[in-house]
Amino acid sequence: MLTYKDIIKENDPNLRKNSKDVVLPLSEEDKTVMNELHEYLLNGYDIVACEQYDIRPGVGIAAPQISVLKKMFCILGFDETGQLHQYGVINPKIISHSEELTYIEAGEGCLSVDRDTQGYVHRPKRITARCYLYDFDTLEVKEATLRLRGYMAIVFQHEHDHLHGKLFVDHLNPEAPFYVPENSTPIRFKMNDEQENTKTNV
Ligand code: NI
Repeated sequence: MLTYKDIIKENDPNLRKNSKDVVLPLSEEDKTVMNELHEYLLNGYDIVACEQYDIRPGVGIAAPQISVLKKMFCILGFDETGQLHQYGVINPKIISHSEELTYIEAGEGCLSVDRDTQGYVHRPKRITARCYLYDFDTLEVKEATLRLRGYMAIVFQHEHDHLHGKLFVDHLNPEAPFYVPENSTPIRFKMNDEQENTKTNV
């Protein structure tokens, strides 16, 4: 079982490498990685498990964050309308995105960045991605087209960055950390106000 100490941190060179395509059909080894990433996120929703096993909660985690340099990540979280999103993503390609941007007002966070950061990360508000999706119940893989908007589009892009050696801190503008371009609007959570004031760890 993965705990917070298994997640590599900012200064680890593996976070800066490009990950390789996952070979399909998915090997048993790769299935185990997917299941472990999923289990980590799931444990993040369990207050007892968080304390007992040292889990820092997150809504996304990518394979490179545990030094597996393969194009895989897992998302488990609620969007701004309160809907649950759960994806085991393999070999994703973002094939189109909106010109309109969005950002999280509390700033992004990352399980691999263990320090306070200041500023907004503006990302396309809507994306379309081609990928393979791993089903955590049937353990099967299916080709899919995902259309995501708002918060989930941000989470997906953050994880996608991890597969290409990029961290959210690379997107921060030290000259003007809280600058908001004309075409960017903040995410508004309707269901849970708490989420808006909490850093999203992905
Ligand atoms: Ni991250």
